[in-house]
Amino acid sequence: MESDILFVKREFIEKYGNHTKKMQIYFAPGRVNLIGEHTDYNGGFVFPCALNFGTYLVVRLNRTEQIRLATTNFRFEGSVSTNRMEPQGKHWINYPMGVMDQFIKRGFTLSGMDMMFSGTVPNSAGLSSSASIEMVTAFALNELLGFNLELMDLIKLSQKAENEFVGVNCGIMDQFASAMGKKDHAIFINCHTLDYQTIPLNPGDYKIIISNTNKRRGLASSKYNERRSQCESAVKMLSQAGKISFLGELSLQRFQEIQHLINDGIILKRARHVISENQRVLDAIAALQSDDLTRFGQLMNESHNSLRDDYEVTGIELDTLVEEARKVDGVLGSRMTGAGFGGCTVSLVHNNSLNHFTSSVGMAYKNKIGLKPDFYIAEIGDGARRLE
Ligand code: GLA
Repeated sequence: MESDILFVKREFIEKYGNHTKKMQIYFAPGRVNLIGEHTDYNGGFVFPCALNFGTYLVVRLNRTEQIRLATTNFRFEGSVSTNRMEPQGKHWINYPMGVMDQFIKRGFTLSGMDMMFSGTVPNSAGLSSSASIEMVTAFALNELLGFNLELMDLIKLSQKAENEFVGVNCGIMDQFASAMGKKDHAIFINCHTLDYQTIPLNPGDYKIIISNTNKRRGLASSKYNERRSQCESAVKMLSQAGKISFLGELSLQRFQEIQHLINDGIILKRARHVISENQRVLDAIAALQSDDLTRFGQLMNESHNSLRDDYEVTGIELDTLVEEARKVDGVLGSRMTGAGFGGCTVSLVHNNSLNHFTSSVGMAYKNKIGLKPDFYIAEIGDGARRLE
């Protein structure tokens, strides 16, 4: 972290010069979701944690009407006026600009400033690099310009930025985890009420290992939006038994009683995933709280199988990583994490098996898929904050 901070500061000064006015540095993390996938936009439960990698932002007011944005990750940079935001192609600056747009829409006045971002989350890995850019921007602007919004407002505003400005209809989990993360804790979120609870994560002799398929997630957003609308269709059909507004309202038992109302096989599978996954989150938290990591691992496995068979968001790369992981002794469970269609898996691996895990899963994946996967030990960190 220290070296990341020095690096982004140096890049900032190189680009914008060293003035007497103090620059500020902020950070917001990426996240890994342990269980509860594609439940957030269905008013369900999720159980993510914030990571130690994320997006740094060095920022300084510049006394002009322009906001200048640059990053150490991509060449593209922008200079935009403080009072109007227009999306620019598919460039990264749409994430911070989307957040600025939301502040403007709420009647806040922005000031000219120079910004240097630097992300340490692997791109397109499904570890919420985009939410971390949004949150770091929202957090920094709110503090620097004295807007005084609550953290919960910043979370909602960042999600809206992604929905409206970037055009991805995401739920609230990623921004929530990036804002509310707590070192060595996971966050149990009720995505309907937005009540949440941080729960200690002490996996003892086990580590949480993230494995990256390194497959680029083409088409992910259109398929994501398609899944959302399939869930909405399920809600309509199930409402014949009495009005419901979202799938997360139904217990597994109630769903089983009324599932015959869904007259489309695909929609039925989508709904079954969401409702069974919701129950798995509750079961997983109960398992964790009684120190039953074996059960937690089984639920991770069941979650992946449901995402593969019922929700159909995995694909050969994620399935291969998971299958190979499960063959290794000392692995309690393995599943895809995030939206799917590529990205990463998360596995619970015994300390003594770590080397064997990376070598055997790495080799088998390379042989089958032709890509080299990356492995990271998840270090669970705090949420969005000012660093100095
Ligand atoms: C993406 C979205 C989240 C959530 C997950 C799937 O990460 O941004 O809101 O829906 O997919 O669980």
